Amino acid sequence: MTEEKKAWWKEAVIYQIYPRSFADSNGDGIGDLNGIIAHLDYLQTLGIDVIWLSPVYKSPNDDNGYDISDYRNIMDDFGTMEDFDRLLLEAHRHNIKIVMDLVVNHTSDEHAWFVESRSSKENPYRDYYIWKEGKDGKEPNNWGSWFGGSAWEKDERTGMYYLHCFSKKQPDLNWENPKVRDEVFDMMNWWCEKGIDGFRMDVISMISKVQSFPDGPVEDGLYGSLAPYVCNGPRVHEYLKEMNKRVLSHYDLLTVGEASGVTIDEAKKYANNDGSELGMIFQFEHVNLVSGPIGKWTDQKPQLKDFRRVMNQWQYELEGKAWNSLYLDNHDQPRAVSRFGNDSKEYRVVSAKMLATCLHMMKGTPYIYQGEELGMTNVYFDKLEDYRDIESINAFHQYVDSGIVKAEDMMRYLQEIGRDNARTPMQWDDSKNAGFTDGTPWINVNPNYTEINAKAALADPDSVFHYYQKLIRLRHALPIIVYGTFQGLLEDSESIYAYHRLLDGQILTVVCNFTDHEQNCNLCDDPDAKELISNYKVYKAGKLQPYEARVILHE
Ligand code: GLC
Ligand code: CA
Repeated sequence: MTEEKKAWWKEAVIYQIYPRSFADSNGDGIGDLNGIIAHLDYLQTLGIDVIWLSPVYKSPNDDNGYDISDYRNIMDDFGTMEDFDRLLLEAHRHNIKIVMDLVVNHTSDEHAWFVESRSSKENPYRDYYIWKEGKDGKEPNNWGSWFGGSAWEKDERTGMYYLHCFSKKQPDLNWENPKVRDEVFDMMNWWCEKGIDGFRMDVISMISKVQSFPDGPVEDGLYGSLAPYVCNGPRVHEYLKEMNKRVLSHYDLLTVGEASGVTIDEAKKYANNDGSELGMIFQFEHVNLVSGPIGKWTDQKPQLKDFRRVMNQWQYELEGKAWNSLYLDNHDQPRAVSRFGNDSKEYRVVSAKMLATCLHMMKGTPYIYQGEELGMTNVYFDKLEDYRDIESINAFHQYVDSGIVKAEDMMRYLQEIGRDNARTPMQWDDSKNAGFTDGTPWINVNPNYTEINAKAALADPDSVFHYYQKLIRLRHALPIIVYGTFQGLLEDSESIYAYHRLLDGQILTVVCNFTDHEQNCNLCDDPDAKELISNYKVYKAGKLQPYEARVILHE
């Protein structure tokens, strides 16, 4: 067994904040930086080490801040740079680090670089973006954007097309241009000098494009897939090594790359233990287990055996070579308990705790998405007007207006998969609008806030919140949870997810029942082992109760 190199970010638990939906301090219905500052005590009570802040930079909000118009300023909705500096200071006083979202695959079309770039073919900023001539009066190739429609937009001023892998207000930067890299690395150094603690890098696997820009395979009957030519492109590792040399290696940072389309082999390069690129990456295999003819839009639930196969494979393959990140949801995914657990009244709490156990006892750095620690559920909006997310709204029109999918089917898919499930306001208490705002929230609050909210959770020793708190304490206390090697158990079971972690002769046993009925299992019947945590007070020997999770340590 190779000795794992120690690092603070391997021992940390990260909490993701989507600022727009976290806490509104001034009654305009939009969460903001002062709202976050007001809840640092809450996060300290939970016990997390790091906040990953979804983007807070200046932005026209076509994609809620993932379209940045000024990397060195704060979005008006969220506050000022003084507010940010205070957040950083106050967070550090609470022993909480701040990791910034870094969105540098693209900018907003309102960024000064793009305003210059589109103004003429000769402009010095022209090559900051990816411009191509059309082909036979049409787009340069058949690529479809992730957010629907063509990935190319014709700009009347020069008659040429620019590439946008996401919305047309998110033009892709041209990383082939060394000046773009200089600008990005300067900007990153500027934030590091402010004292931030790391970067979560948005779609960083997409910054290098295959320069011949070939047509892609047509999957949904409308556009060709750009994934093979933009994900893990030819120069991506070269660029990240350069970034590492010129920025990352000068500071002690947490770095995590969002890596759509990543394979395990690629991950071993991005997150290599040699530290030449990033600390870790987000892979997507376990959140893309079910997909249909129109990609991610489906109402099918993932199966335990598929989930385990993927998770275990990442555990085995990265062992001793690269570091895993662990997550079940984020601002782009439906709520974990609704997707992988059971959000019914009867089983919500117990299954949310079971999922947390299963994830937090694995090897890697765990991420908690705001509200996950309360067992917040999908919102299941039943009207298109309730949705705010550009991806969901575009997808609805693209597939329903073209007759590919029936409206009622698409509504069901949005309810299961749509990103707004994660973006409804954080549920603080049972007062109007869940205590999120005194005004009108920018997106409706989940009506179950009267029952599911932080105030109630803090008052209840058996809440999901207190269970997460305990999982975090255990991770901080026991090196085996951070550094132990992973060994899967019962790998054919259709109902139980079980594994060992092994370190210095110690054995940690983790057993999770993923079903709503009792199962036979004797893995926890070890009289010499000590129970560390469980979501049931009473253990029935040889059995696992519905959604029961149990962790025991044999020293
Ligand atoms: C990432 C973000 C997502 C955003 C997209 C474009 O996937 O997580 O929210 O829409 O990149 O920036
Ligand atoms: Ca506000």
